[in-house]
Amino acid sequence: MPQSSLTKLKGAANVYTFRDFILLPGRSELEPREIDLTTRLTEKIKLGIPLVSSPMDTVTEWKMAAALARVGGVGVVHRNMTIEDQVSNLRKVKSARIDPKSADEAGKPLVGASISPLDPKRCRAVDSVADFLVCDVAHFHNSNVIKAAARVLPDLSGDFIVGNVGTKAAVLDIVRELPRVDGFRAGIGSGSVCVTSELTRVGAPTLYAVAEVSTALSMLKLDIPVIGDGGIRSPGDASLALAAGASSVMLGALLAGCDESPGPVVTVKGRRMKVHRGMASAAARKVRFALDRYSVPSKGLDEGVEAYVPANGGAEQTITTFCDGLRAAFGYGGAKSIRDLWHVASFGLVSPQGSLEMGAHSPSLHQDGLVS
Ligand code: XMP
Repeated sequence: MPQSSLTKLKGAANVYTFRDFILLPGRSELEPREIDLTTRLTEKIKLGIPLVSSPMDTVTEWKMAAALARVGGVGVVHRNMTIEDQVSNLRKVKSARIDPKSADEAGKPLVGASISPLDPKRCRAVDSVADFLVCDVAHFHNSNVIKAAARVLPDLSGDFIVGNVGTKAAVLDIVRELPRVDGFRAGIGSGSVCVTSELTRVGAPTLYAVAEVSTALSMLKLDIPVIGDGGIRSPGDASLALAAGASSVMLGALLAGCDESPGPVVTVKGRRMKVHRGMASAAARKVRFALDRYSVPSKGLDEGVEAYVPANGGAEQTITTFCDGLRAAFGYGGAKSIRDLWHVASFGLVSPQGSLEMGAHSPSLHQDGLVS
């Protein structure tokens, strides 16, 4: 064992997760409904609400992307399909007959496309329709991936969101080696159907990743927006990610049960459910048509699983309720807007016992079997 190992173990970083923190209450100037949730997805692209749907094949095809654009968020169409199908999905969003709150200069709904820099043909094809491209690479801080992105970027006109990343070092290398970066997607291994960290013991949980990436960007004096991605289970988790420096959050599981997500409603033990699966699960990898982040031949691992989420009706209702929760959190935290939250937020560290106390825990609920 190298001599420094013990020092390394003793000096290990505190890699905090959503479960470890709360926002402390702060003086509030506004009622929740007056709180401004507008934000930026990239330096150029503005959103009415800070929500982005995840490019997963159980979350975002054209219907979900159109639903998000209608209410002020934005969707990223997944790439577990042929290039032609992905382009056709993007076109359907662009021509959707809706009155979008997130719109391009021509008033058409905004939409993003998931890509891998290792697939330049797809990058160029989707760039002709999508407003922005989102790298869907499990570990962007990889020399081959960065070099591939540097090669394809000069051919692309849409905004280019890099991800996933989770450390300051990744940001420093990437901004030095790429001609442009319009956004960062932060979080490795926290997704609800992700087993990367469990299998490999490597990860950068979303709250930690957002804090690392936004700190690196402010050290570099770069105002590039960050998306917090993975493991967001409530508006509270999203508020923590935003407070840590994110400008928006990406949602997978929370939208997978909506009518607009791909896939049918199934009945499981009498309950209406929909399937949500990791893009690196065995089932998702089986339908993979193109070169992609998890199907590198040297990697035979299934880094995702399949799960059921409750079928919860239309996306608009889910998103409205989520935004009400965000406004409530901002109100308690004393913030008027996302930028304001970055400045006024104070974090409280919660002990494991404290976490139990903060959930529903009335003894009568336990006795009646109403909570477990
Ligand atoms: P939630 O928790 O919102 O997370 O469902 C969505 C995010 O999870 C990531 N993702 C994966 N990560 N293996 C992984 O390690 C997978 O199979 C997988 N599929 C999705 C991705 O970042 C997504 O936005």
